[in-house]
Amino acid sequence: MSKLVQIIVGSTRNGRVGDQVAEYVLKTMSASSPNFKFEIVDLRDHPLPMFDEPAIPAYKTYTKDHSFKWSEKVSQADAFVFVTPEYNGFIPGVLKNAIDFLYQEWKNKPTVIVSYANRGGSSAAASLRAITTRIGMKVAETMPALISNNDVRDPATNRIADPETAFAPQKESIEQATKELVELVNTPAITATA
Ligand SMILES: Cc1cc2nc3c(=O)[nH]c(=O)nc-3n(C[C@H](O)[C@H](O)[C@H](O)COP(=O)(O)O)c2cc1C
Repeated sequence: MSKLVQIIVGSTRNGRVGDQVAEYVLKTMSASSPNFKFEIVDLRDHPLPMFDEPAIPAYKTYTKDHSFKWSEKVSQADAFVFVTPEYNGFIPGVLKNAIDFLYQEWKNKPTVIVSYANRGGSSAAASLRAITTRIGMKVAETMPALISNNDVRDPATNRIADPETAFAPQKESIEQATKELVELVNTPAITATA
């Protein structure tokens, strides 16, 4: 059965361009890894309050419906791609909140971090690498950083005018990250022996 990779869109605000970045990432990754199934997971479709569970998520003793639903969704994936904008040098609160809700569902899963921002968002990517590493995810070395500044926008709509052209400079980097993801997925987890 083909492996499922969830592409998590880290921005939910009105007027965002994260949906366009995620679509471009999905198209580019699917083309370079036809054996994997890629699915966009939009946090708008999984609305979560600010973290409200009484227990530490690592115990997986959830009490709220929204936690069970989010857990069930994330559990389906074999690997992840986080598509995150940079807000004031870090990832958006909505993405950190969605990550904090779970623990075991992320642990040991391979992941690629893709950032985008006026200047590419490498600071946000670095912070997300620290978070995902801390919760035991296997993070691909390559972290594509896409420019989403005014030069690539349609001034009438503020959308990315042509994602293919705008993000072409990072296409190879996304392909390289995809290769690394495939390797991480195909690397069996090291298990302790007695
Ligand atoms: C609250 C906020 C903070 C931002 N901070 C940064 C920043 O630190 N560095 C940067 O390059 N761009 C920054 N930007 C620009 C965004 O990265 C850019 O607008 C991006 O398209 C936002 O993603 P979104 O449209 O999907 O929400 C910021 C934008 C917002 C809304």
